[in-house]
Amino acid sequence: MTRATPAERVAELRALIAHHDERYHLLDSPEITDAEYDALKRELLALEAEHPELATPDSPTQSVGAAPSGLFAEVRHQVPMMSLDNAQTEDELRSWADRLVRLVPELDLGALAFSCEPKVDGVAMSLTYEHGRFVQAATRGNGVVGEDVTDNVATVASVPKVLSPDAGPFPERLFVRGEIYLPTAAFLALNERQLAAGGKVFANPRNSAAGSLRQKDPAITASRPLAFWAYQVVRPEDPAAGAAAAGPWAPATQTEALAQLARAGFPVSPDARRVVGIDAVVERCAELAEHRHDLPYEIDGVVVKVDDLSLHRRLGQTSRAPRWAVAFKFPPEERATRLLGIEVSIGRTGRATPFARLVPVFVGGSTVQLATLHNEDQVRLKDVRPGDIVLVRKAGDVIPEVVGPMLDHPDAPRRRPRRWRFPTVCPSCGGPLVRLVGESDTYCTNIDCPAQRVQRIVHFASRSAMDIEGLGEQRVVQLVRAGLVDDPADLYHVEASQLVGLEGMGELSAANLLSAIEASKRQPLSRLLVALGIRHVGPTVARALATSFSSLDALRAASAESLAAVEGVGPVIADSVVEFLANPANQKVLDRLVAVGVTTHQPGAAGSATGLAQTLAGRSVVVTGTLPGYTREEAEAAIAARGGKSPGSVSSSTFAVVVGEAPGAAKLTKADQLGIPLVDGADFDRLLATGEVPGG
Ligand code: IVH
Repeated sequence: MTRATPAERVAELRALIAHHDERYHLLDSPEITDAEYDALKRELLALEAEHPELATPDSPTQSVGAAPSGLFAEVRHQVPMMSLDNAQTEDELRSWADRLVRLVPELDLGALAFSCEPKVDGVAMSLTYEHGRFVQAATRGNGVVGEDVTDNVATVASVPKVLSPDAGPFPERLFVRGEIYLPTAAFLALNERQLAAGGKVFANPRNSAAGSLRQKDPAITASRPLAFWAYQVVRPEDPAAGAAAAGPWAPATQTEALAQLARAGFPVSPDARRVVGIDAVVERCAELAEHRHDLPYEIDGVVVKVDDLSLHRRLGQTSRAPRWAVAFKFPPEERATRLLGIEVSIGRTGRATPFARLVPVFVGGSTVQLATLHNEDQVRLKDVRPGDIVLVRKAGDVIPEVVGPMLDHPDAPRRRPRRWRFPTVCPSCGGPLVRLVGESDTYCTNIDCPAQRVQRIVHFASRSAMDIEGLGEQRVVQLVRAGLVDDPADLYHVEASQLVGLEGMGELSAANLLSAIEASKRQPLSRLLVALGIRHVGPTVARALATSFSSLDALRAASAESLAAVEGVGPVIADSVVEFLANPANQKVLDRLVAVGVTTHQPGAAGSATGLAQTLAGRSVVVTGTLPGYTREEAEAAIAARGGKSPGSVSSSTFAVVVGEAPGAAKLTKADQLGIPLVDGADFDRLLATGEVPGG
């Protein structure tokens, strides 16, 4: 294997981080623990510190938050949505308070009033009201530009559409900020339903709230019992917060602001408290930490704010966060439970991961009965044995892991069984489990192993890959057991008559599944590359490869050197791609995928052979809002397939702006200012076919 230079490793780390950012922020489905993610970031930071010439302003070490997904129109926040500085310990909380006094010396920390609010773990939202009427909802995004999720938020019952007249008169424009969340009970019920339907199970309430909001179809959002807590009033005249000129919407304190929000009809957390003095703040934080699970919603900390809003203006803000507030974050939760046994699961690459089967325990907001033990060395290091009482932690509050045995626990066994030994054969196929010298992972090397097969197909159909709706793990297991599919290419040969009669599969669901499978043939090459499950190739790398090679044939013919030359690829990824494509079994699956008509080109890539007239060659067409019959991705692909580009913003070089339903106000204003022609969404097909602006 080629050894990576620092520059190559930096590029590779950036690609990996971008991939995991995508999994976490856009797909709401993280693949690695926060600790593993942090390790990637730390390695990148260290390399950048060691080689300053490799640091770039767009490095993930420099950025906060997530870029828009492209699924929704962009919204530029008139008043940016800032983030908060964290305090992890009582000391850090007190130092935050001490800094307040350094900035405003006459403050007395013993007498200062604070608003202590539960830090709900959901999705931050900015709601716009005009004259007391709900007009727009936007996500935080990167703080400056978020996504327009108005239609989806409109389905949330507790978001008032018209504010209560008692709370008037209303300013012309008002931003109410708060958190959309899923109450814990609703989260557990949703996961049960998803499980029963063979759908995706969410890691925690935050992921499920985010996933529910990021639906193309508001009807799906409406089916999820989302709720809202309002926590901030912002007037456009006054970026600092709250208090503006005068009137009922110019509260003097945060406590008054919350009361005013409640009067207007907004749900406000009943667990927010005004307390006096920093000692009382510390006390309230401890109290909420202890009782966090008695609340009907998930919290991951306490937001502590100076109550007096006139002080907010004096304290000001850094580029990232206001100085008048801090997020006190609870430590990761740990709970004790009994370890029933240690088993091994086989992933799609054959990796054998040991995991603990536990007496169910509620930790970090969900019930845990399985927890990872990572690999053989970790089990040896922790020396956990069946029967032990073990400590379980939600790492980054996502993936539960076993911390270690509690040997002195009153319920700990007096005599422990022998040390656990890693099995030597695969639990699924009985083939040998192999651990290579110098590696920490153990693999089942049998490419025909049924467990690997199932996981490969599950991955192929997953949301970031071919996105075949209704084809979750349970369904795949069913299809493999019934002998209908062995590999992804087999999916395209399944017939309705074979499906009907499988458990839970009627004529309608069979037809739906088949049409989802058929539709997946139209996915661009980049998704096919993700779907193949090539090691190190996630959506970001796949897009880079697909755009630069534009066709599967070109990729199959490429050398490791030419692959490694693509930005963000590097030699390790390149070797992995070459090795995958050289494998005869993989080649066979690929040939069969091509034979059934799966798309093998990347629309929009240079030299892409789409066979379509290049009506928009070299032109920029900006799309805003939803176009009839197209998802955002499809609309962009359609423009690209005609040789055009569809950037995210309007500029003087924009050829036309296509206006769909619920367009972004910023884009329309800009187009108007620059005199860019607008095309009605209904005329989009005509624009594609002719390259002419109808009526223009
Ligand atoms: S105030 C500029 N209050 O915590 C101040 N934030 O980093 C803006 N959050 O995702 C935030 N509960 O959505 C504030 N009572 C509360 C909150 C709260 C939850 C979230 C917020 C953001 C994060 C702050």
